[in-house]
Amino acid sequence: MALNLDAVGKPIGPISKDYTWKDVILYALGIGAGYSEPEFTYEKNLKVIPTFSIASIFEFLTHIGINANVNLAGILHGEQDLIFHRPIPTEGKLVTAGKITHMYDKGKGKGALVIGESDTFDANGKKLFTSVLTIFARLDGGFGGEAAPKDTLEFPKKKPDFEVEAHPNQNQPLLYRLSGDLFALHVDQDFAKMAGFEKPIMHGLCTYGYACRALMQNLTPGAPEKVRRLKCRFSKPLYPGDPIKTQIWKIEEGKVLWKTINAKTGEEVITNGLFEYGDMPKDEIRFDGRVAIVTGAGGGLGRIYALDLARRGAKVVVNDLGGTRDGSGKDKGPADKVVEEIKALGGEAVASYDNVATPEGGEAIVKTAIDAFGKVDILINNAGILRDKSFLKMEPENWQAVLNVHLNGAYNVTRPAFKVMRENGYGRILMTTSAAGLYGNFGQTNYSSAKMGLVGFMNTLKLEGAKYDIKVNTIAPIAASRLTEDVMPPELFEKMKPEFVSPMVLYLCSEKCKVNGNIYNAGMGFFNRAAVITGPGVVIGDGVNPPSVEDVVGRFDKVASLKGGKLYFELNEQVGDVMNAFSAPAKPQAEAGAKLTSTADVFKAMPAAFNPEAAKGVDVVFQYHISGANGGDWHCSVKDGSCTIEPGVHSKPTCTLKMADKDFLDMINGVLPAMQAYTSGKLKIEGDVMKSQLIGKLFKL
Ligand code: NAI
Repeated sequence: MALNLDAVGKPIGPISKDYTWKDVILYALGIGAGYSEPEFTYEKNLKVIPTFSIASIFEFLTHIGINANVNLAGILHGEQDLIFHRPIPTEGKLVTAGKITHMYDKGKGKGALVIGESDTFDANGKKLFTSVLTIFARLDGGFGGEAAPKDTLEFPKKKPDFEVEAHPNQNQPLLYRLSGDLFALHVDQDFAKMAGFEKPIMHGLCTYGYACRALMQNLTPGAPEKVRRLKCRFSKPLYPGDPIKTQIWKIEEGKVLWKTINAKTGEEVITNGLFEYGDMPKDEIRFDGRVAIVTGAGGGLGRIYALDLARRGAKVVVNDLGGTRDGSGKDKGPADKVVEEIKALGGEAVASYDNVATPEGGEAIVKTAIDAFGKVDILINNAGILRDKSFLKMEPENWQAVLNVHLNGAYNVTRPAFKVMRENGYGRILMTTSAAGLYGNFGQTNYSSAKMGLVGFMNTLKLEGAKYDIKVNTIAPIAASRLTEDVMPPELFEKMKPEFVSPMVLYLCSEKCKVNGNIYNAGMGFFNRAAVITGPGVVIGDGVNPPSVEDVVGRFDKVASLKGGKLYFELNEQVGDVMNAFSAPAKPQAEAGAKLTSTADVFKAMPAAFNPEAAKGVDVVFQYHISGANGGDWHCSVKDGSCTIEPGVHSKPTCTLKMADKDFLDMINGVLPAMQAYTSGKLKIEGDVMKSQLIGKLFKL
């Protein structure tokens, strides 16, 4: 029996569970609550213990075991992480969906880890909690897979701030299992012996529930809705009846580390515990389950982005080459230090020391994310260097070095990341520009060019990613860092903490980000948008004969005016405006004469409107897909000066024109100019767009 490695990434669920207040109380009793906690054990004013979440995901857990083909005799719950987004209602429906995200190999005889991640929603589709669970498959190691990344929290050396003792009953698993975990190991004497235990053992998740109660008693008394996250590793089995002690260390406001020990033997039963609590902020932006790469995150702005992302739940690849300000040298220290900082906060991070300036470096950075966390959701292209010189002193070496890190660096990392994001149907990419690029700064021709190049990069990538929910935006930060220490007065330097830039960066990298292709300045608490604005312009001359220089100079005020200027989202919009400036204005319906009133009539009329003269040497097939009640499919083949029109779909059209029936008739009847139809999106053309321009010459309707 071998693990089914193909199960990774395959969706599991949705799995529904209906429950009532009785299930909620049964669970509370199963984890030792009693008369002293009436809020969890009496239906009057009932509240739900957050770890009740587990009761709704047993079936999901079972699917993970089955899909992964784990040897059931060796299965143990390895780790559990629950992140709460909303309080759990006292009754209703819970809907869970997720997938196996990783399978890690601890080696032959040492077991394997199968990780499953799921989100659970209420009946109205509101996300209640996220679960990341690890099955420790003791008998499935040695399949040749990768080792799991290390994730061990550092506990303070001092005595715990709180200790809570509890005495699970001899029969506790018998009660706990009624909440859904019916695994024989906790009830069947023979099965337990076969699995190597002297008798049935406590469910790890039952002890986890005891720990949750202990944490709540001290940190969120009477307010389970304030529990935000509960994470731990199950390290030793516990026999029913053994007393336990949960030890708690405060590390910062709203965050503690904890472990549960067997109070009889002193052995650690649950370790690596993290508990986060506090008010559930409305509309909080979180990154739970998201994987972020931040380049140049060993210091300055990137370090703050990485820390802030991790604080809000993201797993972070902290990339930094660790060179000097001008890009020379390298050092693993800066990236390692930031990873340590994130781990000390209870977050997850790995270091990457690769150089963004080479394609191999870019690939390696993305591979680090995939190896450690299985995907990439967020990429912040932040790494940067400076080599300032006035233009004539700017030798090719200094020009190229700066372009290599900023512009080529963004290309090198974004390309492999974009591939992963496209496959996953989600991504947030951030470019880092600068006021020097947007507006100019003496002595920085290299830097300004690279930084403005990134804006062009964004402008096109935003279009290519849109279909896959990949949004690409650009930040223009202003902050105190080693890049700006000698260009800013000390009093300003103090006020310009990178922390003031980070909120905008996090928004642009979040699921809630609505914008795509925008540039924002951010610094010191001031935020605004920068954009390329195009003036309305003017036609000079008749569009047939080129105007003279003097003609242009004569109308220069109009040419240069930005009054009534426009923001374009893409090239076609701008080209459309240029074409519209020449095309005859749309005719009112009455004037146009509305000759044709049905789509079928248009295609009937086309052979008569065909102009064989214009068709010499032309070999094309136009496929029309007209939607709406009056629509249908027709194709029109033009070859060797002749034309045939037939209903239906052609197997190899040169281009396909898609339009709603009403718009199509308006276009044919001259009410809607073709270019306007195209630039407004009413006419969509797939395939060879250039060939579609022949239609106007081939048919005179
Ligand atoms: P910083 O020097 O503190 O951080 C940049 C980091 O990038 C450094 O830790 C460096 O080791 C790393 N790095 C450099 N080359 C690398 C490479 N080839 N591969 C991997 N890592 C590399 O500077 P700061 O101010 O935090 O800059 C961050 C970004 O923000 C840069 O792109 C910079 O151009 C941009 N920026 C900063 C402004 C500011 O006011 N601080 C203003 C406008 C833009």
